[in-house]
Amino acid sequence: MTASHHPSSHHVLPDRPPFAIRARILTPLTTGGTAFHPDGIIEVNAAGRIAWAGPAADRPDRQDGTAAVPFPEVDLRPLVALPGLVDLHAHLPQLPNAGLGAGLDLLSWLDRYIFPLERQFDDADAAAELAPAAFRTFAAVGTTTILAYGAVYAASMEGAFRAAESHGIRAILGKVMMDRITYDEQIDPSTILDRSLRESEDLCERWHGAADGRLGYAVTPRFAISCSAEMLRESAALATRTGAWWQTHVSEDPGEIAEVARLFPEALDYVDVYDRAGGLGPRTVLAHAVHLSDRELARLVESDTRVAHCPASNLFLASGVMPLGRFMDAGLAIGLGSDVAGGPDPSMFSVMRVGAFAQNARRTLIGDPHPVLGPLEWLRLGTLDGARALGLGDRIGSLEAGKEADFIAVDAGLTAPVRHVDLALDGDLESDTASLHAGGAFGDGDDPADIASRLIFRPHPDMVRGAWVRGRRLEGPRHPN
Ligand code: GUN
Ligand code: ZN
Repeated sequence: MTASHHPSSHHVLPDRPPFAIRARILTPLTTGGTAFHPDGIIEVNAAGRIAWAGPAADRPDRQDGTAAVPFPEVDLRPLVALPGLVDLHAHLPQLPNAGLGAGLDLLSWLDRYIFPLERQFDDADAAAELAPAAFRTFAAVGTTTILAYGAVYAASMEGAFRAAESHGIRAILGKVMMDRITYDEQIDPSTILDRSLRESEDLCERWHGAADGRLGYAVTPRFAISCSAEMLRESAALATRTGAWWQTHVSEDPGEIAEVARLFPEALDYVDVYDRAGGLGPRTVLAHAVHLSDRELARLVESDTRVAHCPASNLFLASGVMPLGRFMDAGLAIGLGSDVAGGPDPSMFSVMRVGAFAQNARRTLIGDPHPVLGPLEWLRLGTLDGARALGLGDRIGSLEAGKEADFIAVDAGLTAPVRHVDLALDGDLESDTASLHAGGAFGDGDDPADIASRLIFRPHPDMVRGAWVRGRRLEGPRHPN
């Protein structure tokens, strides 16, 4: 069979709703467990919502007039449709330094590689250059929802929001707030807090809920080391008053934790610093939370605070390995974050892979008794659990009727080991994978855990072929058409 007979080589991806796609569908379910439909259909209505999803054989007959508009159908098989990935923690201006600075601890890495870099993200021009490429980069690896930090400058944050608005990604962003130590040389120490609050509030007014709720604002004090108690308190009050999210870093690295204890001697521990500021609760996303005491864990669970687990960052910066099983058993609300550039790779599949390796290491090295997660559980953490951590679990995170159509189409066949052999033959990736698909040579078969396992543990840089938010296709993923 030749490439031209194969849909993955020549189908045209739908750009905007309404449409129906036919694909292998793999999704976590809101009620628990996973659904897999080897021959599935997702109908996306004109408003960008999933009108119906399930096995093609069960599809309701639309000839009877029950559909307000017909759904033009595109057959994407053998691509796998997954919910779009949710990245709960990233730093937009840090992308250029992804992968740099290995071997440094957190605070040295921030000083040497990050603060000088963020200082360049200081105006609208810098944002216009970097932000669109950053959103394409995230979409290219399948991320359709991102909660991210900017730099301390309002102008570049405004530019980043504009870029997100026109790109189409679902984004919750915030201008970084720092008043104790900062890299901003322009700022007068006596006015820095007021100015930072005012700029955050202005940005929040303009962007929180914009694009019909696709964009949101997160009030973003960087972390306790760079913020006064007053900044933490006022920023939390601002988030509460506006209904915005509140995000910061917690308990990432032992050196950082010791410094926070020195700076906040009145606090019981790191979590208590944010608790005293009024910062805990269901609209708060704390990144890392690696070294929590039992008291801190219990307090986060009790306050329903959300955590972005960033395992790739935690190993890149040698910060530590989260006791994930213990935290999940305690009922902590956890999703995943890339933390680029603390994490070297924006791909959430990579984050899942490193997270799985790290938990295996815990088990083998220190005898952590909790069962490790399987690939479908990692996939759930990176999709539905992330959506729930943001309070968006009723709108996104799975491919179920009524949800907004945020999804990706992935070529699982590209992840097969035989790819290398074939590439060596004639160098034509597209036709080779197509013919191998057709020959059923991949062994991922129709087992959903095997498909997820391959995507996580043997990824290919081009495997994400398309990404959609509300049924609108995003720029970024590479597709032959
Ligand atoms: N803590 C404070 N700022 C940062 C940051 O930019 N990255 C990481 N990983 N941790 C931080
Ligand atoms: Zn971070």
